[in-house]
Amino acid sequence: MATTATREDLLRYGQFDDEQREYVIDRPDTPLPWINYLGTDAYFGIVSNTGGGYSFYRDARLRRLTRYRYNNAPLDLGGRYVYVRDDATGDYWSPSWQPTPERELDDYECRHGLSYTKIASSRGGIRAETLYFAPLNETLEVWRVRVSNDRTENAELSLFSSVEFCLWDAQDDATNYQRNFNTGQVEVVDGVIYHKTEYRERRDHFAYFATSATDDLKGFDTQRETFLGPYRGWDRPIVVETGAARDEIAHGWQPIGSHHVKVSLAPGETREVIFVLGYAENPKDDKFDPPGSQTINKTRVRPVIEKWLDPAQVQRGFDDLRAYWDQLLGNLTVRTPDGDTNRMVNVWNAYQCMATFNLSRSTSFYESGIGRGMGFRDSNQDLLGFVHMIPQRARERILDIAATQKEDGGAYHQYQPLTKRGNNDIGDGFNDDPLWLILGVAAYLKETGDHTFLDERVPFDNRPGSEVTLYEHLQRSLKYTLDRLGPHGLPMIGRADWNDCLNLNCFSDTPGEPFQTTENASGGVAESVFIAGLFVLAAKELAVIAGLRGNEGEEAVYRAAAEKMSGTITEHGWDGAWFRRAYDFYGNVIGSGENDEGQIFIEPQGICVLGGVGLDDGLAGKALDSVAERLATPHGIVLQQPAYSSYRIELGEISSYPPGYKENGGIFCHTNPWIMIAETMVGNGDRAYDYYRRINPSAREEISDVHRTEPYVYAQMIAGKDAPTHGEAKNSWLTGTAAWNFVAITQWILGIRPDFAGLRIDPVLPGDWPGFAATRAFRGATYEITVRGTGRVTHLLVDGERIDGTLVPPAPPGAVVRVEAIRE
Ligand code: BGC
Ligand code: NOJ
Repeated sequence: MATTATREDLLRYGQFDDEQREYVIDRPDTPLPWINYLGTDAYFGIVSNTGGGYSFYRDARLRRLTRYRYNNAPLDLGGRYVYVRDDATGDYWSPSWQPTPERELDDYECRHGLSYTKIASSRGGIRAETLYFAPLNETLEVWRVRVSNDRTENAELSLFSSVEFCLWDAQDDATNYQRNFNTGQVEVVDGVIYHKTEYRERRDHFAYFATSATDDLKGFDTQRETFLGPYRGWDRPIVVETGAARDEIAHGWQPIGSHHVKVSLAPGETREVIFVLGYAENPKDDKFDPPGSQTINKTRVRPVIEKWLDPAQVQRGFDDLRAYWDQLLGNLTVRTPDGDTNRMVNVWNAYQCMATFNLSRSTSFYESGIGRGMGFRDSNQDLLGFVHMIPQRARERILDIAATQKEDGGAYHQYQPLTKRGNNDIGDGFNDDPLWLILGVAAYLKETGDHTFLDERVPFDNRPGSEVTLYEHLQRSLKYTLDRLGPHGLPMIGRADWNDCLNLNCFSDTPGEPFQTTENASGGVAESVFIAGLFVLAAKELAVIAGLRGNEGEEAVYRAAAEKMSGTITEHGWDGAWFRRAYDFYGNVIGSGENDEGQIFIEPQGICVLGGVGLDDGLAGKALDSVAERLATPHGIVLQQPAYSSYRIELGEISSYPPGYKENGGIFCHTNPWIMIAETMVGNGDRAYDYYRRINPSAREEISDVHRTEPYVYAQMIAGKDAPTHGEAKNSWLTGTAAWNFVAITQWILGIRPDFAGLRIDPVLPGDWPGFAATRAFRGATYEITVRGTGRVTHLLVDGERIDGTLVPPAPPGAVVRVEAIRE
C-alpha cells in the first residue's frame, strides 16, 4: 500500500526518470512537501507532491489568485484539490492524498517534470491522474484530470474541483478581516466561476475557474463554509460527502470555486475532464458588460477559456511546453562519467536556475510570497546560471535592475516585480550590492558578445530624464565602493555585505526588530574583506570591458584599483593561514585566529581567490587548505567556525541563530561553489569535484531521510556540524546556490566557460576521469566538445585544426563546430 510502508524501510521517496526528465515520488508522505513550479514567464504557481500550493500573476503578494496558509498543520494544506466520489457507496477521496490522508490510496505516484506535475493514484479500482501545467504565453493553468474505471462493473462517480480564492493582496488577505469578510464577490456564468473581488472599484483584473464538462455539470459552489459545512475542514466537505453542490453565490466571507461533475464509466473506460484556472485583465473603460452594469465584460476572456477547455489544445499546449524545455536545455548538455553530475547539469540545476531567475526569493515553500521582491544582488547572481538559456530575458532583467541604482552608485536592495520600483521599506546601504551588477553584465557580454548593450540608456531610481549609459552605471558601482573606504583602506560594509546577517552597525537590542533595516549607528569603521575581494573581481572585469570599448585610460585605472585593493587585502585582510572576514564598528578584527569564535569564514576564502588574490604568492592555496581543515564536513562546507554560542550585539543577526544553522555555521550552500571554483583556480580538480558532490542533491538522494528536502534541487542551507540535525537541508529552491553551482560545475570543473573573446574550454577534472563530452550553444553556433587525456588542456583541435591554448574563437551563427580539447 502506498501510504503504509514503514519509514524505517526507506531512505528515499522516489527516483529520477532521466529519460522523461521527471522526479518520480512513489509515496505521498515525503519528509517535507516536495514542490515544483508551474509557469515560465508571468503566470506562476507552486505545486507540492500532494497537490498543495497556490498561483499568482507576476507578483506573489499583489496578484495572488489562490490562498495558501503557510506553516500549517499538517505543513502542506490548501491547494488544487479534486475530489472523487463513488456515488454508489458514498466513498470519496482526493487522488492527490491531501486533503484526505485518512482515505488510503492503493497506489500513488507524483511526477514532477519541467514546469508541470502529474499526480496519479487509485482507490477501489478507480484511477485518477491529474496533469497540472501553465501553457506558454498564457496567464492560466490547466488541470487535466483523467479518471479510469478498472473495475468489472460500471462506476457512477462525481468529481468536485476546488480552489480557495485569495482576495488579491496576500498580505492584506491574511490580516485585514474586518474589511475582507465583506468584499468577496463572484459571478457564475455558463459553468465558469469568476472571482471578482474589488473589480467593482479599482481592480481591472479578475480570476476564473472553468471546466470542460459543461454537459455533465451538476452544480457549483463558491462559498467556503457552504462547501465544507460548518466546523468542517477540507478533509470532509459536506458537499462532497452528500454528493450535492449547493449552487450558492458567495457574498463576502471566503469565496471559493468548485464544480460538481458527474462521470459514468463503463469497465475499462477513461474520461478526461479539464479545469482551467486563469487570470485576466480588461481595459479600464471597458470593464463592464453592459457598460454601467456591475457584470464583468467577458468578451476578451471567453475565447481564451474555450481554447483551453479543448482537449486537443491542451495536448498541444503540453507538447509545446515540453519542446520549450528541450530547446532551453539543449543549449548545454554534458556526458560525464558521473550520473549525478549529468542529470543536475542537463536538467535539474538548469531548471532551478530558471526558477530563481523568475522568482528571485519570493515564492517557495519557505518564502511566503509576501515578503521579498527581486533582490539586487540576488538577481544579478541568478543571471549567471540562466543567461545561456534566454540571453534576451537576462538583458531585460539587467536593465530593470540597473534602473533601480541610485546616482551615487548605491542600489535599492530589492525592487517590486510588478512596479519595478526600488523598495523603500528596505532601502539601500548593502554595500556589496552595486558590484554584483558588473558581474551580471559581464556574464551577459561573455555569453552574447553584444557590447552595444553597454550603450543602453538607463535611468537612476527609475527617474525619467536621469538616463546615462549602462556602462556608466557600472562605473558608478565601482566608485560607490571607492567612495566608502575605511581606515584600513577596505570597503565599509554598510548594513551588510553578501552575508545579510553580518550587521556590524546595527546594535539591535529590541526583540523582533529587523536586523537588516533598523537605523544603523553612525561613527563606526566597520569594513568588509568580502567586499574587497568582490571589488577586485568586479574591477578586473570592468577593466576588460573598458579596454574592449577602447577606453584604455579607464582600463588602466580599474586595473590599478584592483591591484591596490588586492594589496590592501594581503596587508590587512590576511590572517596568516586564511583571509579575515571584516573589521567591526570599533575596528576589531572578525574571522581571525585572535577571535574566540568566528575565527574563519568561508566567504572571503572564496571571493578573494575568485578575484585572483593570493594566486601568485601561495596565499590562495593556504586559505583553501584552511577551509578543508576547519570548515569542510561530509555534508558540505560550513560558513564559519567556531559558531557563535551567544548573541553578540556588535555582530547582529549572524549570532542570533543557534550554532550550526543558517549563517551561524550552517552549510550555506551558496558559498560552497566559490570554494569549488577557487580550487579549480589552484588546479585542484579532485577537491573541487569532491565538494561539488557533497552538496549535489541527486548525490544525496540516498540519504533523503537525513537531507529531507527535494533531491532534485539545491537547498539554501544544510545544518552544520554544530547543529543537532547536521545534514538536514532547509529552504530549498530559491537560493543563489542554484546559479553558482551551475557556474562551478559547467564553467570551472568542466571548464566550458564563455569569455569575452570566445568560448574557453579549460576543465579542471578529478584525476580519475578520462574526460567527457558536451554540446554547447554559444552565440548562435553549436559546439560539439570532447575532452581527452589527463592534466590541463594544452591545445584544441577545432574542426581538426590545432589552436594552442584553451580559447575557441566564435564561429558564425548556425555553424556546428567540433572541438577536441587535448590534455597533456
Ligand atoms: C536570513 C538571510 C537572508 C536575510 C534576508 C535572514 O534572516 O538568515 O539568509 O539573506 O534574512 O533578509
Ligand atoms: C539569502 C539572501 O537572499 C542573499 O542575498 C544573501 O546573500 C544570503 N542569504 C546570505 O545572507
